[in-house]
Order: sequence, then structure tokens, then C-alpha cells
Amino acid sequence: MEKFSLTTAIDYVNGAPHIGHAYEKILCDIIHRHYKKRADKTFFLTGVDEHGIKIQKTAKTLGITPKELCDKNASQFVEAWKLLDIEYSKFIRTTDAEHKKVVQDIFEKLLEKGDIYKHKYKGLYCSGCECFLSDKDLDEDGCCPIHGKKPEAVEEENYFFKLTKYKERIIEHIKNNPEFITPEFRVQEILNQLENIEDISVSRAKTNVEWGIEVKSDPSQVIYVWIDALSNYITALGYDVSGNFGDNFKEFWPVNYHVIGKDILKFHSIYWIGILMALGIELPKGIYAHGWIMIDKNKMSKSTGNVISPKTVMEAFELDKPDALRYFMATCAIGGKDGNYSDEDFKEKVNADLANNMGNLLNRSLNMLVKYFDGEIKEEFKNDALVDVADSTVKEVLSLFDKIDVAGAASKIIALSDEANKYINDNAPWTLYKEGKIKECGQSLYTVLNLMVKTGLLIQPYCPNIANEIARQLKFDINLKYDEITPYMLSAGKLITKEEIKPVFLRLDSEIAGDKKKS
Ligand code: ME8
Ligand code: MG
Repeated sequence: MEKFSLTTAIDYVNGAPHIGHAYEKILCDIIHRHYKKRADKTFFLTGVDEHGIKIQKTAKTLGITPKELCDKNASQFVEAWKLLDIEYSKFIRTTDAEHKKVVQDIFEKLLEKGDIYKHKYKGLYCSGCECFLSDKDLDEDGCCPIHGKKPEAVEEENYFFKLTKYKERIIEHIKNNPEFITPEFRVQEILNQLENIEDISVSRAKTNVEWGIEVKSDPSQVIYVWIDALSNYITALGYDVSGNFGDNFKEFWPVNYHVIGKDILKFHSIYWIGILMALGIELPKGIYAHGWIMIDKNKMSKSTGNVISPKTVMEAFELDKPDALRYFMATCAIGGKDGNYSDEDFKEKVNADLANNMGNLLNRSLNMLVKYFDGEIKEEFKNDALVDVADSTVKEVLSLFDKIDVAGAASKIIALSDEANKYINDNAPWTLYKEGKIKECGQSLYTVLNLMVKTGLLIQPYCPNIANEIARQLKFDINLKYDEITPYMLSAGKLITKEEIKPVFLRLDSEIAGDKKKS
């Protein structure tokens, strides 16, 4: 594979990052780290969405300027992603000068083309969604079903994008490319929405919304958030309306995936596609819509007061590395459906999989290798037990990632160490040693340790720090690519001393965490 690129949604900087924002970034970071082991070149874009009425209102309440609010909150996102070891290639802010300029140019180009026109409009605006809603979108009480609030009646002269002009082409593209939208169960929902689409408002009167990018040829209007926000995917890579593209655009556009939440799939698979068609730009290869993370089975919301930040979880469990939280987040939602976070589930899952299953296996096996063989692997220990199983797991994990099944791939990796745990219990190297079956004893330890090298490489995208520890103890290069995995990864010779053995993951003590949270 030559290259791989992906993007996250850009988060509203209206508050601090919460665990739902973290979920998406962790997912993307894992996908990116996985493909770094398969592709020559990769690009991972993330960032924040800074304009709009919500930011304007919040800043006003706080008595600061919108830009001050954005600066303060954007840095909290940067900090949080650092804490979670999110290694992006670029972090875009929609207040970046370069982004603003290109967005203005895009708008002018669409105006010139006649795909944007001015129109007097009366509509219902939800500031939570930052979009107009139609009557059909509302619940029985006339509220936005996502934000539970009554949208505001707005009457304005706005610019509109001729989405209807592209409707048939969008439908055709989705139907002809069954893998364009993942998971598959979302496709029909989008096709249904496409049946009823209308042209969309793409600007707001400055008298009502000030905090946005001005329309160049008409400064009484600001570009309304979605054209601004969606364009980040190309402005960040160096798109330019004149055709004078930056290197990253040439190299990484179209991206392999836009990864976003289910609530904004419509904007990505309909609006954004229409805009790209109008601009004559190639379409992204895929869009992956993930589900939502609930807290103790409830929707996270400021009014409920159950918003959890990744930092709170890390502090409550006294984690100095994010691996456990990354692993949990990656596995708590299956197949693009909603997932759930609870302290109890978190603790149980990571204790079971990372400490008991994977960590203990490595620790036990290395201790036996030291005890029976002074930490040395002998040539005659090499054998092919479980080699096929491990190598087919590698293949399965790769193909699951091709479908963005990050949780499914994790369960295959853990199933492999399950298999190894069973193997070591069945073969009982401690008994073999006592019975004087020295070679068989060494062979069974080799089987497990050789398998652990592969496990380490596969788990690395999820748990980079744990994987580093595994690699340090098993003396392999954690940066190996997946096509460098061979049946026998361990060679004969001294592997480890007693002093070098260290548990790769310690069980979480939830008692401490529970008390701390209450105080
Ligand atoms: O929608 N669980 O920003 P946003 C999982 N700025 N994901 C969640 C979530 C939850 N509980 N809550 C939010 C916006 N998300 C726009 C995007 S993209 C060009 C512009 C996800 O801060 C949500 O689905 O409301 C989205 O993908 C991302 O977090 C940002 O949400
Ligand atoms: Mg949102």
C-alpha cells in the first residue's frame, strides 16, 4: 500500500473536549497507527471548528471575545489529545488565516458558477446543530431531537447553495459505490434523506451572526458554519481554487476516510459531496460514521451534568499512560453502533484483557524462561505450534481494519492471547520441566513468546506504551511493518534477565478511583 489518509470531525470549541470527542480521535489515531504499519506515507488530520453563533453567545456570557474563547478552548483540545497520545499530522483551526482565505475563495468560485445564489428565507435555526431544521426534523414538541431545544425562528436574506442540482449525481454515487458509506446500515437512511433535500443556506446575516468568515464580495454576510467547517478537509491539505495545490493536497486527497459521528453524516455524505462536485474536486474514498458514546447508558449532556472528560477518567484512575482508556474506547462500541462508558465496565474490560489476559501471559512466560533457562532461547525451542493461528489473526486484523472495524480487530487480538493462555495451561511447561522434558518445556515457552511478538505489533496502534514495553522485553523492533511479520520472530540467544521483566499493565484499582471521584 502506497498511502493512506484520514480525517476526524473538527470539534466545536464551545467547551472542553469530552469523552465522545475523545472516542473519535482515539479511533482515528488507532486507524492511523495501524496503516502506518502498512502504507509508505500517511496523513491524519484533526482540528477544531471555531465559528458560529454558539461560540459567539458563550463568549459574550463570559465577557471575552470569541477569539479569546477559541484560543482558550482550542488549547484544551490540543492538551487532551497530547494526554491521549493522539499523533496527528496536522491540527487545523478554522480561524487560521490560510483556511479563512481559501474558504472565501471557495465561496466566490461557487457564486461565479451560479451554484450559490441569494434568497430571502424564513426558517428554524438550531444553534446546537448550527443548521436550519425543517418541520419534519422536529419532535412532537417542536424541538430539535438532538438538542431538545426549540429552534429559533429566523427571517433573513441568505446565500443558498444549489444542492438540488447535484442530488441525482449524489444518489448515483452512493448507489454505485456500496463501500462509500460505512457502516452499511446507514446507507438507506442517507438515501431517504436525499429524496427530500432542498437547497441549503450557506450564509447568515452579519446583523445576526458576527463570528464567522465574511463573504468577500458581500461583507454584510458571514459564511455559515458548514461550508467553513467542511472545507477544512481540503484547506488543511493545501487546496487552492486557482489550482495551485499544496503538496499534501496532491499527495493525500482524496482521503481514504472521513471519520465522523452519526449525527453529522448527512452533512458529510450529502452537503459536502455536493460542494465537492460543484468545485470539481475528487470525492473522498469513504465516510465512516461512528455511533455515540453514552455515559452509564444515558446521553451525555451539559444539562444532565454527566459530561465526562478524558482527563477526569485518567485522573480518577491515576493513569499516567492513556493505553487503558484508548483500549476501552476502541472496544466499547461495536460495528458503528452506540457504545457505553461506565467506570465499572472500563475497569473490568481493561483488567480482563490487558492485565489478566495479555499482561500476565507475557509475565508468566518470561519468568519461566528465566527460571528454567536463564532467560535464553535455544535453537531447538523453535517450533510451529500456534504459528498458523497467529498468522491468520494478523490477516484477519488487517482485513477488519479495511472495514474500519476497530473493535472487531481488538477482539481478534485478545482472542489470540486467549488461545495462548489455553495453550500454556494445557501444555504446562512447569510440569514438563519437572518431568525432565526440557526441550518440550522450552518449546512451549517459545510458542507463547513468539506469539506475543505478533500480539505486541497488533496491539501497538491501540496501546502504544504497553506495546513499547512488550517490545523492550521481547527485544523486537516495535516499528516493524505488518508485512515484516514472519512465522518465527524470536531468534536463539539470551532474551532477558530477571531484572528486565516488568508487568506491562497493572490492574486498575477502582476503590481508589471511586473515592477520589466522590471527594
Ligand atoms: O459536529 N459520542 O462538532 P461537535 C461520540 N463542528 N461522538 C460524539 C459524541 C458522543 N457522545 N458527541 C459528539 C460538530 N461526538 C462540527 C463538526 S466536521 C466538518 C464539523 C462527535 O463538537 C460528533 O459526532 O458537536 C462529531 O463527529 C464530533 O464529535 C464533533 O462534534
Ligand atoms: Mg455536536
